[in-house]
Amino acid sequence: MITTLNAIFGKHQHQAGSLLPILHDIQHELGYVPDEAVPLIAKELNLSRAEVHGVITYYHHFRQTPPPRHVVHVCCAEACQANGSEALAEHAAARLQHGDISMEPVYCLGLCSIGPAIQIDETTLHARVTPEKFDSLVAALGERS
Ligand code: FES
Repeated sequence: MITTLNAIFGKHQHQAGSLLPILHDIQHELGYVPDEAVPLIAKELNLSRAEVHGVITYYHHFRQTPPPRHVVHVCCAEACQANGSEALAEHAAARLQHGDISMEPVYCLGLCSIGPAIQIDETTLHARVTPEKFDSLVAALGERS
Protein backbone atom coordinates (compact mmCIF):
# COMPACT_ATOMS: atom_id res chain seq x y z
CA MET A 1 0.00 0.00 0.00
CA ILE A 2 2.84 2.44 0.84
CA THR A 3 4.32 2.13 -2.66
CA THR A 4 0.93 2.82 -4.22
CA LEU A 5 0.35 5.84 -2.00
CA ASN A 6 3.80 7.27 -2.70
CA ALA A 7 3.23 6.96 -6.44
CA ILE A 8 -0.13 8.72 -6.11
CA PHE A 9 1.35 11.45 -3.89
CA GLY A 10 4.12 11.98 -6.45
CA LYS A 11 1.60 12.30 -9.27
CA HIS A 12 -0.28 15.08 -7.43
CA GLN A 13 2.76 16.70 -5.79
CA HIS A 14 2.37 20.16 -7.33
CA GLN A 15 -1.40 20.15 -7.64
CA ALA A 16 -3.40 22.55 -5.48
CA GLY A 17 -6.48 21.05 -3.85
CA SER A 18 -5.25 17.54 -4.44
CA LEU A 19 -7.11 15.74 -1.63
CA LEU A 20 -10.04 14.59 -3.78
CA PRO A 21 -7.91 13.51 -6.76
CA ILE A 22 -5.66 11.58 -4.37
CA LEU A 23 -8.63 9.86 -2.74
CA HIS A 24 -10.05 8.96 -6.16
CA ASP A 25 -6.71 7.51 -7.25
CA ILE A 26 -6.35 5.49 -4.05
CA GLN A 27 -9.81 4.04 -4.44
CA HIS A 28 -9.16 3.31 -8.10
CA GLU A 29 -5.92 1.46 -7.26
CA LEU A 30 -6.95 -0.32 -4.04
CA GLY A 31 -10.72 -0.54 -4.41
CA TYR A 32 -11.24 1.51 -1.24
CA VAL A 33 -9.50 4.04 1.01
CA PRO A 34 -7.99 2.07 3.90
CA ASP A 35 -7.98 3.59 7.41
CA GLU A 36 -4.19 3.21 7.44
CA ALA A 37 -3.95 5.63 4.51
CA VAL A 38 -5.61 8.50 6.40
CA PRO A 39 -2.60 9.58 8.53
CA LEU A 40 -0.29 9.29 5.51
CA ILE A 41 -2.57 11.46 3.38
CA ALA A 42 -2.92 13.96 6.23
CA LYS A 43 0.84 14.18 6.62
CA GLU A 44 1.41 14.53 2.89
CA LEU A 45 -1.11 17.35 2.53
CA ASN A 46 -0.43 18.98 5.90
CA LEU A 47 -4.01 18.41 7.01
CA SER A 48 -5.41 16.89 10.19
CA ARG A 49 -6.57 13.28 10.17
CA ALA A 50 -10.05 14.56 11.02
CA GLU A 51 -10.09 16.72 7.89
CA VAL A 52 -9.13 13.79 5.67
CA HIS A 53 -11.55 11.46 7.41
CA GLY A 54 -14.30 14.09 7.11
CA VAL A 55 -13.91 14.26 3.34
CA ILE A 56 -13.85 10.47 2.98
CA THR A 57 -17.05 10.08 4.97
CA TYR A 58 -18.78 13.09 3.37
CA TYR A 59 -18.64 11.61 -0.12
CA HIS A 60 -20.58 8.36 -0.37
CA HIS A 61 -18.48 7.43 -3.37
CA PHE A 62 -15.51 6.57 -1.16
CA ARG A 63 -15.44 3.08 0.31
CA GLN A 64 -13.74 2.50 3.66
CA THR A 65 -13.79 -1.27 3.38
CA PRO A 66 -12.65 -3.56 0.57
CA PRO A 67 -15.28 -3.99 -2.13
CA PRO A 68 -17.09 -7.32 -2.40
CA ARG A 69 -15.52 -9.73 -4.86
CA HIS A 70 -18.82 -10.08 -6.68
CA VAL A 71 -21.99 -8.02 -7.01
CA VAL A 72 -25.29 -9.62 -7.89
CA HIS A 73 -27.94 -7.24 -9.23
CA VAL A 74 -31.47 -8.51 -8.73
CA CYS A 75 -34.09 -6.87 -10.90
CA CYS A 76 -36.83 -5.37 -8.77
CA ALA A 77 -38.82 -3.69 -11.53
CA GLU A 78 -42.49 -4.40 -12.16
CA ALA A 79 -42.33 -7.26 -14.68
CA CYS A 80 -39.83 -9.19 -12.61
CA GLN A 81 -41.85 -8.52 -9.48
CA ALA A 82 -44.82 -10.14 -11.21
CA ASN A 83 -42.60 -13.20 -11.75
CA GLY A 84 -41.42 -13.47 -8.16
CA SER A 85 -38.40 -11.20 -7.87
CA GLU A 86 -39.37 -10.03 -4.37
CA ALA A 87 -39.13 -13.57 -3.01
CA LEU A 88 -35.91 -14.05 -4.97
CA ALA A 89 -34.44 -10.83 -3.51
CA GLU A 90 -35.36 -11.98 0.01
CA HIS A 91 -33.76 -15.34 -0.65
CA ALA A 92 -30.65 -13.65 -2.08
CA ALA A 93 -30.35 -11.27 0.88
CA ALA A 94 -30.51 -14.16 3.33
CA ARG A 95 -28.15 -16.30 1.27
CA LEU A 96 -25.51 -13.57 0.88
CA GLN A 97 -25.65 -12.23 4.43
CA HIS A 98 -22.18 -13.31 5.46
CA GLY A 99 -20.26 -13.57 2.23
CA ASP A 100 -18.08 -11.36 0.12
CA ILE A 101 -20.78 -11.26 -2.54
CA SER A 102 -23.14 -8.34 -2.27
CA MET A 103 -26.62 -7.87 -3.67
CA GLU A 104 -27.94 -4.66 -5.15
CA PRO A 105 -31.36 -3.95 -6.63
CA VAL A 106 -31.55 -2.91 -10.24
CA TYR A 107 -34.54 -1.68 -12.20
CA CYS A 108 -34.84 -3.60 -15.46
CA LEU A 109 -32.19 -5.62 -17.20
CA GLY A 110 -34.08 -5.95 -20.47
CA LEU A 111 -35.26 -9.50 -19.76
CA CYS A 112 -38.74 -8.48 -18.64
CA SER A 113 -40.66 -11.36 -20.24
CA ILE A 114 -38.36 -14.02 -18.81
CA GLY A 115 -37.82 -12.75 -15.28
CA PRO A 116 -36.95 -12.75 -12.55
CA ALA A 117 -33.64 -11.59 -13.92
CA ILE A 118 -30.26 -11.05 -12.29
CA GLN A 119 -26.91 -9.78 -13.46
CA ILE A 120 -23.62 -10.91 -11.96
CA ASP A 121 -20.63 -8.55 -11.93
CA GLU A 122 -21.99 -6.25 -14.64
CA THR A 123 -21.35 -8.95 -17.21
CA THR A 124 -23.52 -12.04 -17.04
CA LEU A 125 -27.31 -11.94 -17.32
CA HIS A 126 -29.51 -14.77 -16.08
CA ALA A 127 -33.25 -15.17 -16.68
CA ARG A 128 -35.98 -17.17 -14.92
CA VAL A 129 -33.88 -17.28 -11.77
CA THR A 130 -35.41 -19.45 -9.08
CA PRO A 131 -33.93 -19.60 -5.56
CA GLU A 132 -32.37 -22.95 -6.51
CA LYS A 133 -30.84 -21.53 -9.68
CA PHE A 134 -29.61 -18.54 -7.68
CA ASP A 135 -27.90 -20.84 -5.19
CA SER A 136 -26.13 -22.77 -7.92
CA LEU A 137 -24.99 -19.57 -9.65
CA VAL A 138 -23.59 -18.25 -6.35
CA ALA A 139 -21.91 -21.57 -5.64
CA ALA A 140 -20.24 -21.37 -9.04
CA LEU A 141 -18.95 -17.88 -8.18
CA GLY A 142 -17.36 -19.27 -5.06
CA GLU A 143 -15.63 -21.96 -7.08
CA ARG A 144 -14.13 -19.59 -9.63
CA SER A 145 -13.02 -16.92 -7.10
S1 FES B 1 -38.44 -5.81 -15.30
FE1 FES B 1 -36.85 -7.14 -14.77
S2 FES B 1 -35.72 -7.27 -16.58
FE2 FES B 1 -37.21 -5.79 -17.04
